[in-house]
Amino acid sequence: MSFSPHFKRPSTPSSPFDKDGATLSNYLDVVTRHIDFRWEINWDTKTFHGYAELTMESKKEGVREVRLDTSYLDVRGVEIGGKGVEYSISERIEVMGQALKIVLPEPLNKGETTTIKVTYSTTKECTAVGWLEPAQTKSGKHPYLYSQAQAIHARSMIPCQDTPAIKATYEAKVVSGRGLEVLLSGQRKGVKDLGDGKREFSYSQPVGIPSYLIAIAAGELTHKSFDDLEGRHWQTGCWTEPLNMDKAYQEFKEDTANFVKTAEDLTSPYKFGVYDILFLPESFPYGGMENSCLTFATPTIIAGDKSQVDVVAHEISHSWFGNGIGCASWSHFWLNEGWTTYLERLIMRETHGELDRQLSYTVGRRGLVGDLERLNPRFQKLVIEYKEHEDPDEGYSQVPYEKGANFLLYLERTLGGLDNFIPYMKDYVRTFEGTSITTDQWREHLFHYFGQHKDAEELTRRLGKVDWDEWLHGSGPDLCVDIEYDDTLSKACYDLAARWDKARDGNVSGFSKDDIKDFSSTQTVVFLDKLETYETLPPKVVASLDKLYGLGSTGNAEIGLRFFEVALKSGPEYAEAAAAWVINKGRMKFCRPVFRLLNEQTPELAKKTFLKHANFYHPIARKMIAKDLGVKVD
Ligand code: BES
Ligand code: ZN
Repeated sequence: MSFSPHFKRPSTPSSPFDKDGATLSNYLDVVTRHIDFRWEINWDTKTFHGYAELTMESKKEGVREVRLDTSYLDVRGVEIGGKGVEYSISERIEVMGQALKIVLPEPLNKGETTTIKVTYSTTKECTAVGWLEPAQTKSGKHPYLYSQAQAIHARSMIPCQDTPAIKATYEAKVVSGRGLEVLLSGQRKGVKDLGDGKREFSYSQPVGIPSYLIAIAAGELTHKSFDDLEGRHWQTGCWTEPLNMDKAYQEFKEDTANFVKTAEDLTSPYKFGVYDILFLPESFPYGGMENSCLTFATPTIIAGDKSQVDVVAHEISHSWFGNGIGCASWSHFWLNEGWTTYLERLIMRETHGELDRQLSYTVGRRGLVGDLERLNPRFQKLVIEYKEHEDPDEGYSQVPYEKGANFLLYLERTLGGLDNFIPYMKDYVRTFEGTSITTDQWREHLFHYFGQHKDAEELTRRLGKVDWDEWLHGSGPDLCVDIEYDDTLSKACYDLAARWDKARDGNVSGFSKDDIKDFSSTQTVVFLDKLETYETLPPKVVASLDKLYGLGSTGNAEIGLRFFEVALKSGPEYAEAAAAWVINKGRMKFCRPVFRLLNEQTPELAKKTFLKHANFYHPIARKMIAKDLGVKVD
């Protein structure tokens, strides 16, 4: 089936959630096409200063004002055409920040452009950037900084239209002293020596990207290229602190380029030119972040046995879903993460097989159900109805990922399997690549595509039977349809968990360390996840579990997380061990649940541990943990 050339994209928002309520900008009036920015990093004050020059195009007749998002920025001046113009900064709206209102000297008509230059500096309150002391790095010699802009933290680094609805290209020059390297989420164009240990790094991002993909990292960093596949028009490699390079390189040198190629075969050519991975220090709050050209990743995925390469398959998949086709507002975030998770598992299927894909869905389903148990029904929905000015980080959960990926798996199964679904996915990418869309636009295209299929009649009939409202807007403790996965790889895990469940009297003589010797690390995760669904185990049974399988001291953080979840539910016996484990786990997937459970079991220890190590965490994670524990940090 070929590209749908006659498919018309609806251009105006049709539901209130299609308009992004998490931006203070007037992005429906004027849109940013390009940003030129220049920053100088001040390592002493932990700020950047410089300017951002935005080229903006009017979408309407007679636009007189431009409103940009800012958060904790110190704005020094605004110029248009070299002349200072009138501007004001609104009162702060919590989390959203402050609108920078600029009065245009001449009203702008539809299609006309103007260039606005804002001179400013960031401040200590900047929520996007984590500043690390030398002691928090591998070598202990130099400071380090990195940003995390998704969902709405870009505005604390740069005045912009901070919404996924708008995509702009950028060009940037960033100066750093102390001989430290600077990386941005674009292609490096040059490095100029300014003397005195100062260098200026030039970058360009020629593909339009949403503001949340603007990213920076700086510190003692080195790069190594992976051997790229012949005949490819893109390059891959990794950046790490020098002491991490060998392990990181070994772990990812083969899979990275293969994953990009597999993703291309499943979708369309990779369009960002460079795909590098930056392995950050332990405090990085996510597993991975798909910053354009430069995925940011937690170093905990360098597991030594390639057991966590799926995180890289995930971030690569965002090149098409999220960075390619974007969501028009955070309500439609599942279009990014659900599609990405779906493609990530197709990539893994190519190297590890269909059974592995089924196992990933099994693990994901447990994560989904766990989240659904504790989430407000509003956030259980695939399309989230955010209130005006509500923080999209509040709706972050497994729902967009797993409900989304399961919905797509369900559609794949309903519409004749991968033979039909992969060509459809390609058509979807070709139709919308480079734009930001809503769930309705996605669905309209789906109907349009299968309406032209050779089996259109039957497939349209099946599409008509899908319970769209339940899938998209329903809440509840599980998926609305009973979806099953092949249990070839999970059965042994379930059987072992059931045996432990029966051993709660303490008689563990029938177990040995060999029980899990043939398990992949994902199977060990499935085993522990299952165990967690039973009534809590007595502490001495947990101790046996640890002693036999060495779970409390595992170097694999996915397994460690599950073990401490089981252990902390059973009693305070493992509280000290969990506290020692969590203090270098900056990834929120690991630290938040462990701190939460620690707080239920031994609140004093939880709070004391967090407050002592609060500076280790990135500002985003710090705020979330503080909220979970009900404590204040400054
Ligand atoms: N884009 C997300 C991370 C994110 C989402 C940051 C929303 C801020 C707001 C990234 O692609 C992601 O999903 N990371 C996962 C990886 C996993 C699903 C393989 C993570 O960090 O756990
Ligand atoms: Zn993702």
